[in-house]
Amino acid sequence: MTVEAPVIGESDALVFFGATGDLAYKKIFPTLYAMTKRGTLGVPVIGVAFSNWSLDDLKKRAHDSITEHHEGGIDDKKAFETLLDSLHYIDGDYAKRQTFVALAEQLQDTGASKPAHYLAIPPSMFPVVVEHLGTSGCAKDSRVIVEKPFGRDLASARELNRVLHTVFPESSVFRIDHYLGKEPVENVLYFRFANSFLEPIWNRNYIESVQITMAEDFGVQGRGKFYEEVGALRDVVQNHMLQVTALLAMEPPVGGTQEALRDEKEKVFRAMRPLQPTDLVRGQFLGYRDEDGVAADSDVETFAAVRVHVDSWRWGGVPFFIRAGKELPITATEVVVRLRRPPQQVFPEEQVDPDDTNYLRFRLGPDTVAIALGVRDKLAGESFVGHPVELYVCTEEADEMEPYERLLGDAMEGNSLLFAREDGVEAAWRVVDRVLTDHGHAHPYEAKTWGPAEASALLPEGEYWHDPQP
Ligand code: BG6
Repeated sequence: MTVEAPVIGESDALVFFGATGDLAYKKIFPTLYAMTKRGTLGVPVIGVAFSNWSLDDLKKRAHDSITEHHEGGIDDKKAFETLLDSLHYIDGDYAKRQTFVALAEQLQDTGASKPAHYLAIPPSMFPVVVEHLGTSGCAKDSRVIVEKPFGRDLASARELNRVLHTVFPESSVFRIDHYLGKEPVENVLYFRFANSFLEPIWNRNYIESVQITMAEDFGVQGRGKFYEEVGALRDVVQNHMLQVTALLAMEPPVGGTQEALRDEKEKVFRAMRPLQPTDLVRGQFLGYRDEDGVAADSDVETFAAVRVHVDSWRWGGVPFFIRAGKELPITATEVVVRLRRPPQQVFPEEQVDPDDTNYLRFRLGPDTVAIALGVRDKLAGESFVGHPVELYVCTEEADEMEPYERLLGDAMEGNSLLFAREDGVEAAWRVVDRVLTDHGHAHPYEAKTWGPAEASALLPEGEYWHDPQP
C-alpha cells in the first residue's frame, strides 16, 4: 500500500526516537545545538526513548554530548539554554500504543501539527514505530528522517521501503547519507555543472579511468560488533562511494527541480553493471580479529576495492575503481579522473608516467579540500623536457557547517535534494547485491598500508592505485 503525498510546509517540531542512544549523543545533540546557535531550529524538540529517564536526565545527556562532540563545546550559553528550553522527553516502549498517545498529546501541547520524526534507532524497530506513528495520528502531515543502513541487501532495502511507505509517501521520507551533506562532495556537483570547459572532455573519448579512494587511518573504533554485521562494502561503498560516483557520472539535471537531480543519479545507478566476484577484492587488516565483538575466524572485509562499469553512452569502456578501507596510512577521500594521453608524444622526452599526464583531482577532505588539474609544463632550458605540476582550481579549509546540520535543516524544510531516494537506494543495492555473499576470502593486510596487494589486479596493466598524499 502506498499513501498520497500531502503538501507540507516547514516542520514545526522535531521528534527524535533513540534520544538516549549513541547517534543522538554523537551527532544529534551537537547538531541541534549548532542549529540553535545559527537560529535555524526554533521549534520544540521531543526526544523519545525507552530508558526510564526523566527530562532532566536528557538535558544532562545533551550537556555532556555537546561538551564532548561539538567543536568548541558549549561556547554559547544562551543558545544552549534555548535548546534546553525547547527540549521535551517521552519515555516509553516503542511497542506500546501509550507511548504514541503521549507523543500525540505532547505535540498538541506544544502546538505542533507538522512534525518531523527522526528515527535514530535500529532498522529492526522501524516497523513497529512507523505503524504506531500512523495509527496514533502523529504521522499526519509529517516527515520521517532515517539513517543508513537502508537495509543490508536489495531484499531488505525493499522491505524497509515498503514499511515506510505504509504510512509515509516517498516525498515525506528523508534518507540521510551524510556524505551528500559534505561541502566538498556538493562541490563536485557544482564544479561539474557550473563550468562549461569540462563538458567536452567529460566522457569516454577523453577520460581513461576514474579512481575514488576513501582511506581511514583508524580501525573499527570499538564498533567491532556492528562492523561484523556490515563490512566495508555495506558500510561505505554501497552508499557513500556509489553516491560520489553518481555525482561524477550523472548527466546534467534538467528542469531545475529537486527531483531532476535525483532522477539523473538514479539513472547512473541503473546503468552500473552489477558487480561480479572478479570485480571485487576484499581485505582485512591484521589485528581486526582481536577487536571486541569480532569472531576469531572473521572473514568480514575492512577494505574493499571494486571495479564498476557504467554502461552508458558517456561512460562506455571507462572503468571506475573504488577503494575504501580502515587502518590505511592516512585519512583522506580523493577522486582522480585520469585523462587519456595525448595521441602522440611530440617531444622526445622519456616515457611519461601515467600519473604525470593529465588528470583532475578532487580532494574531498577531511582536512584538505582541493580541486587540482594535473598538467605537464616545460622545464626552463634548451630542450623540450617537462615536469608534472598541478593547477589548483580551488582550495579551502574544510566546511564549517557539519553535514548533519545541513541535512537536518533541509529535511525539516522539505528540501529533498541531498537525500537518497527509494529507487536510487534500491538500484545501488542491486549493483553490489551479488558480491555481498558471492566473493573470495578477505586478504589480510598490515595496518597502515594501502590494503592487500591483490587489489592491484583489478586495474589494467600500466595503471596503479593513486594513493592520496598527506
Ligand atoms: C560512516 C561509516 O557512514 O562513515 C563509518 O559507518 C565511516 O565507518 C564514516 O568511518 C566516515 O564518514 P566521515 O564523515 O567521518 O568521513
